[in-house]
Amino acid sequence: MTQEALLAIIGGTGLTQLDGLVIEEERHCETPWGAPSAPLQFGRLGDTPVVFLARHGNPHRIPPHEVNYRANLWALQDAGVRRVIAVNAVGGIHPQMGPARVVVPHQVIDYTWGRDHTYFEGKIDSTTHIDFTHPYTETLRQRLLQTAGREGVACVDFGVYGATQGPRLETAAEIVRMERDGCDLVGMTGMPEAALAAELKLGYACLALVVNWAAGKSDHIITMEEIEAAIDEGMGYVKRILRGMLTDG
Ligand code: HPA
Repeated sequence: MTQEALLAIIGGTGLTQLDGLVIEEERHCETPWGAPSAPLQFGRLGDTPVVFLARHGNPHRIPPHEVNYRANLWALQDAGVRRVIAVNAVGGIHPQMGPARVVVPHQVIDYTWGRDHTYFEGKIDSTTHIDFTHPYTETLRQRLLQTAGREGVACVDFGVYGATQGPRLETAAEIVRMERDGCDLVGMTGMPEAALAAELKLGYACLALVVNWAAGKSDHIITMEEIEAAIDEGMGYVKRILRGMLTDG
């Protein structure tokens, strides 16, 4: 078996730990940007080494706008990680993206503000504008989609992820505007994470789980009960894909 670049999974809402991960080491890290959300967990899933990081901490306590995305990705890179699968809970805008559906998005629109969103600031030698035409690494996206197919998990192979500031959910009018902009999904954690990964030249793909219809897309308001039910149903699919990718990919 060829040695592949070390992979990390960043778990979001509903995925604060990875079942089946045999943890060999828990590392508390400090970075020039502060501490990551949680200790990095180094371990194996099957035979494959993997690093797991809970984006919101474990237990889940850090809201999306307060996650230290810079420290999270820096710590992973510093630990030798070269590829990241980001798991994100999202709201569905596109008709194919209802609750409990898994989606591998291909594009991003960033509506977040005021977050520490770049490593290129302060005392730097030169201004750097990274290319971000394709925010997700296509080979990693395809690996996720192929694994979903092999595992028999229905998975949508496209989607524009609209990243909002939160922590509140959107108004119906905001979702209409986002749909007009071309967004298929709405979530609060997709950015600046994807851009920071690109600045560090890490491979990066998103495995999104739809946990509710976006505001105004159903006949009811969004409740935590509905979100929890979709997480209960859908996170099993996400875990099957992750396990499949690491154990027989
Ligand atoms: N909007 C923004 N973020 C989300 C949603 C939503 O509807 N559901 C889960 N994360």
